[in-house]
Amino acid sequence: MDLFNVYPLFDIEPVKGEGSFIFDKEGQKYLDLYGGHAVISIGHSHPHYVATISSQLEKIGFYSNSVKNELQKNLARKLGEMSGLTDYSLFLCNSGAEANENALKLASFKTGKSKTISFNKGFHGRTSAAVAVTDNPKIIAPINQKADAIILEMNNIDAVEKELLKGDVAAVMIEGIQGIGGIYVPEVEFLEKLQKLCNENGVVLILDEIQSGYGRSGKFFAFQFANIQPDIVTTAKGMGNGFPIGGVLISPNFEPWFGMLGTTFGGNHLACAAGIAVLDVLKSQKAIANAALVGNYLMQEIAKFEPVKEVRGNGLMIGIEFDIEIAEIRKKLLFDKKIFTGVSGKHIIRLLPPLNLKIENAQFFIKKFEEVLNEMALI
Ligand SMILES: Cc1ncc(COP(=O)(O)O)c(C=O)c1O
Repeated sequence: MDLFNVYPLFDIEPVKGEGSFIFDKEGQKYLDLYGGHAVISIGHSHPHYVATISSQLEKIGFYSNSVKNELQKNLARKLGEMSGLTDYSLFLCNSGAEANENALKLASFKTGKSKTISFNKGFHGRTSAAVAVTDNPKIIAPINQKADAIILEMNNIDAVEKELLKGDVAAVMIEGIQGIGGIYVPEVEFLEKLQKLCNENGVVLILDEIQSGYGRSGKFFAFQFANIQPDIVTTAKGMGNGFPIGGVLISPNFEPWFGMLGTTFGGNHLACAAGIAVLDVLKSQKAIANAALVGNYLMQEIAKFEPVKEVRGNGLMIGIEFDIEIAEIRKKLLFDKKIFTGVSGKHIIRLLPPLNLKIENAQFFIKKFEEVLNEMALI
């Protein structure tokens, strides 16, 4: 059997990871400023993470959600404390799309409605409801098409108000910082007005923090730059540092009933052990404050380079936009300078490194970035 060929691949095969570095089959070392799509939050193979998961596996790796699991409660308690959302409850699942799917389902259960509002350049996943609210027609199959999934311009509160006043909207879903779309930060004022409008109209506000959450922005959740309390917050990527886990954080306005949501694998013992280890390391290493500090440094330094049109983001979620196409810059960074970065479209480089990235690694990137721009005669 061969693999279903949906991913264009780099000719690199990582076989080992350590902190902010990965090593390929030939032993070549790379600085990882991409974290495998913003997933690596505490660094590759962090010793505490490895020890916690390994020792859990020796005890019990999995049992279904029909028995008590103290690890789930520990994870929920720690997540509440670290995020500040202590009075929310947690539904555990396995991925970002699944978290969003469940969040949209909750909104629909609560309101009895099905219409959704989301925003242009937004990405929320590839499952049915999640892809319907995603602004990318190419990945919406006919079976996922929802006529009442309305996509509006971000930061245009009047457009949102006009739709909400029709009285048929279940949920508004928005990323804390748009990731795949190119690192666009929603305006604080827009988020605050959005919350107010949702409250006034009985609409569920869902913050998709799958990429921007878990400390990546320099705050636990990116929406916390604004003064809002969303009805639902979704999280995944950084939550397990590579172990598949997602979460739906649900405000006290929602009443659960048995069978309302469910999953076989979600919240299993190993996933919870991974999730707890991530929170422990984020806390002990003050990684969120580090993300703010190192992120600020990177953004300031990158902005100094002439050909950079704009640097956007918060913390270690950074978009570098150029007027020119960036394929060659990224290729040179990867193959010549051995630095992994991400992209968005043809003009934006994305940096999504581990949150405990050391300042000297950030300085190393700046040096190599300058070399590449020099070699390409761009500066
Ligand atoms: C903001 C956002 N939401 C949802 C998802 C979907 O997550 P997953 O790929 O785990 O289903 C992603 C993935 O990139 C994302 O960036």
